[in-house]
Amino acid sequence: MNRIDTELAKVLKSKIRSQGPLTFRDFMAVALYDEANGFYAQGPNIGSPDGPFDTNAKFPAFGYAMAQAINHAEKNIGCPLRILELGGGTGQLGKSIISFLQNPHEYVVLETSPGLRGTQEQKGLQAISNLKNLSPGPTFVFGNEVLDALPVHRVMGMGNEEVMEMYVDLDKDGEFFEQPGRLSTSELTERFRCEGIQLGRGQVAEVCLELKPFFQSVRQVLERGYVIFIDYGDSASNLYSHRHRNGTLRSYYHQQQIHDPFFAVGQQDLTADIDYTAVLSIGEEVGFEVDGPIPQGTWLRNLGIQAYCGSEGDRESDQEEINVLTKPAGLGSTFDVLIFKTRGLPAGPGLHPAS
Ligand SMILES: C[S@@+](CC[C@H](N)C(=O)[O-])C[C@H]1O[C@@H](n2cnc3c(N)ncnc32)[C@H](O)[C@@H]1O
Repeated sequence: MNRIDTELAKVLKSKIRSQGPLTFRDFMAVALYDEANGFYAQGPNIGSPDGPFDTNAKFPAFGYAMAQAINHAEKNIGCPLRILELGGGTGQLGKSIISFLQNPHEYVVLETSPGLRGTQEQKGLQAISNLKNLSPGPTFVFGNEVLDALPVHRVMGMGNEEVMEMYVDLDKDGEFFEQPGRLSTSELTERFRCEGIQLGRGQVAEVCLELKPFFQSVRQVLERGYVIFIDYGDSASNLYSHRHRNGTLRSYYHQQQIHDPFFAVGQQDLTADIDYTAVLSIGEEVGFEVDGPIPQGTWLRNLGIQAYCGSEGDRESDQEEINVLTKPAGLGSTFDVLIFKTRGLPAGPGLHPAS
């Protein structure tokens, strides 16, 4: 299929012509988050009930289970918690969670996209663009599929432990293509060194360096509480094995997977698997204790998702929802749950079956 010359593609091409190649990370940051024409700026219908993809956010049963997690966390901590959702998308999940909570809660969404903040506010949620004005307090923080939307660097193994970074440049026809160049930061090789990873010759891999600042900003507003991420990924040793010789970058256009990150710049989603090893060690580095990862299906069952059945619509459709969310053939093993807590708290909600 021919690429679409979107407005954002034109802007990026002109930038490359005048300033030279961009790291893939910088390209991806603009493609997803450019305020005027980025994929998320346009307020895409993420998790739309009509979309062909099953995502957690579109199932009320998931909102029910999240509300149980919040109740559990409040019992552990012994006081009401502010809820901070990271990357709230259309606000559908936030609205659903609130509907299942018995008492009113302060519910804040941290969201980079102005368009999506607007959509979230229309659903009655308080949406903020950064955490600067949020005072530290007892908080329940969570992010569903937010880490996989952070921009990633792409690198290529050259053999002999050497690694080069992938840059987005223009070919002789003025079309985007990727080519290896010098590393933009030594943090990339530092990450691999810490994880004991050596890429094979020609092996491509994604590295997310946004994780640490993201965790640090969250840690600062959390006096006591839990941070829960629901996402897809793997340990570094699996993620950077030969099974993923071409990396895990994926791209979706109109919710269909498309094997070209430059097909419709700004109109297509870009995402990569999470390096759980990095997430867990950064979480510890910024001062959290770590629980998990645990497969989503087990986590939801531990939280008592089964009690949702019959509480809303008819039992059959409720059960179908629960099955999609929990069964390994559905989302139950696609997603994992990573739980962080401030020091000294009991095990995170859903880590063990509710007694
Ligand atoms: C894949 S979507 C998931 C949306 C929603 N959580 C859901 O499950 O449907 C990722 C969301 O994270 C937001 N996002 C990405 N980077 C962010 C950041 N650094 N801080 C806050 N939100 C961010 C995006 O704008 C988008 O709303």
